Amino acid sequence: MRISRLFGGVLLCVAAVTALDCSIGAQTQPPKMLAATPPMGWNSWNHFADKVDDKTIRAAADALVSSGMRDAGYVYVNIDDTWQGTRDADGTIRANAKFPDMKALADYVHSKGLKLGIYSSPGAKTCAGFEGSLGHEEQDARTYADWGVDYLKYDLCSYTKELRERAGRDPVKNQQVMEEIYLKMHDALAKTGRPIVLSLCQYGWQAVWRWGAHVGGNLWRTTGDIEDTYASMAAIGFGQAGLSKYAGPGHWNDPDMLEVGNGGMNANEYRTHMTLWAMLAAPLLAGNDLAAMTPETLSILTNRDVIAIDQDALGRQGDRVAAEGPLEVWARPLAGGGTAIAIFNRWTMPLTMTFDLKDAGIHGSVHLEDLWAKKDLGSFKGSYTTALVPPHGVILLRAQ
Ligand code: GLA
Repeated sequence: MRISRLFGGVLLCVAAVTALDCSIGAQTQPPKMLAATPPMGWNSWNHFADKVDDKTIRAAADALVSSGMRDAGYVYVNIDDTWQGTRDADGTIRANAKFPDMKALADYVHSKGLKLGIYSSPGAKTCAGFEGSLGHEEQDARTYADWGVDYLKYDLCSYTKELRERAGRDPVKNQQVMEEIYLKMHDALAKTGRPIVLSLCQYGWQAVWRWGAHVGGNLWRTTGDIEDTYASMAAIGFGQAGLSKYAGPGHWNDPDMLEVGNGGMNANEYRTHMTLWAMLAAPLLAGNDLAAMTPETLSILTNRDVIAIDQDALGRQGDRVAAEGPLEVWARPLAGGGTAIAIFNRWTMPLTMTFDLKDAGIHGSVHLEDLWAKKDLGSFKGSYTTALVPPHGVILLRAQ
């Protein structure tokens, strides 16, 4: 496994040299790390599901640019399930009629300063019943690289059948089989020489956070599918407590894509969603209709201070440090010695919260800034009492 990962790294550097990511003295330069910070972009599934086509993807790319989201960091444009057609006689995968020319689409996305993501399954079929990569892993990886793909979400789906046949109910064997199939695609991607982010999607089975990085995953879904409700988002987001030690530069926990702007939550709830994902160093993959978004949605998605926490160079995921019934305090150490502190109110009425600053790792006097209210709060020592935190809402502080 180590050898194959090393091999992949060497090849990535070769690719990176071609892309001018390494200097001429590449022998002494480490290859540029893929997903050094959590990937940011947009994915078609949450809003468009199977109603995605070439036009949808181009419109999303255009909107990322015109809305300012690309410049805020959202660079991946990811096509999820339902793009696949049939295979040629030699087994080469073709896109279906919704995507007449994948290479031209990739060129278009790249011309906008963006990157293209695609989706497949280690099984014979994807979750929506389209052609998967089983038995064609290397061939598909080559096709994606030829098209100019920069990101692959690899979704277990119908492989659950093989998994059951090969591993039964034995958890150790289940993990081994999943490690094998994900490593297989990692190696196939590495062999193409093109840097392609690998996103594992198997719903968190067998505590994937413990082994996702060892099989070359740059991110791995830790849960089942998110829905556009506070209950679903909160169950997933707050359920990430304790996973922080498994994430870091190049390998991230993925609590699923954003629902911000899809209409099922109010603004306080979407601010909670965005804040929690930033505290979790989660991938920020918007999942709304970018061409029809309200100014409020855009302002939540593009709050630069919140994005800076998600993308913090230290890459230390935050975790829960205190709780009082429905009130939770999460903290995340930042590069340069600062700390992000989020106070969440999971109750349906407004509440204040007093917490010890030492719970957030802060000893002595500290300066606090409210990142949603964009307000300087002054200096504090010992403890801090918040203003009223709205129902299902959050106060996000940066301490320095
Ligand atoms: C699974 C994944 C989703 C989405 C769908 C597509 O449910 O978890 O994120 O990709 O498949 O069919």
